[in-house]
Amino acid sequence: MNNRSLITALAAAGVLAACAGTSMRSTESDDAPFGGPASVAFAADLWQAMTAAGLAGGGALQGTPYTGQHPHGAILDTLDTTLSVGGRRGEIIVKRNYGGEGVSKAAVADDPARHLKAVTVMFRREKGYDSDNADWFWAKYLPDGSLDTNPKGAALAGRVAKGAPKGCIACHRAAPGGDLVFNNDRF
Ligand code: HEC
Repeated sequence: MNNRSLITALAAAGVLAACAGTSMRSTESDDAPFGGPASVAFAADLWQAMTAAGLAGGGALQGTPYTGQHPHGAILDTLDTTLSVGGRRGEIIVKRNYGGEGVSKAAVADDPARHLKAVTVMFRREKGYDSDNADWFWAKYLPDGSLDTNPKGAALAGRVAKGAPKGCIACHRAAPGGDLVFNNDRF
């Protein structure tokens, strides 16, 4: 199975699990703030573009590991650049989350794949995608490019979790400058 069909299969399994899990998911559509079919499909395209650009997968660019803070990993690295997805170029911030036994900055620098736990991504979508939140698309991938899910089984891709008191957006709204980015002020 190639990477692409693995992602598709895992995404489909996630959507089915979500449908079985709660009645709310039966109305799943592109109107759902996150985890819907359009968000999952965009996340797959984004991962593929990241892999092609050397931002994910084997041989990807590595930043210098630094000590992280909750809820991201014990050790992190972050890359900030632009990327074309579906013919549109947007800002992308890729944060890799490292953890597990024996994790340290040096251990991650020596063997990143061994300690990689998750890849959290912010990609700036077209104007109007989510005007309340600087039009960021949020995704949390596992190291193989499949999407992580929340406890209800919804895939963590899209406007995560717009309207909820916890999640990417709720926490990142505390970032200074109104851009939902902690690292710098972009606008
Ligand atoms: C409870 C708070 C919290 C939640 C929830 C959270 N983050 Fe973050 N995130 C942070 C903090 C704090 C930083 C900056 C600190 C750092 O880099 O160690 C950060 C940094 C980032 C960055 C680098 C850009 C920046 O803001 O500096 C990305 C990308 C990112 N997070 C993605 C996500 C995604 C995707 C999710 C949801 C799946 C998420 N985050 C959930 C607190 C959070």
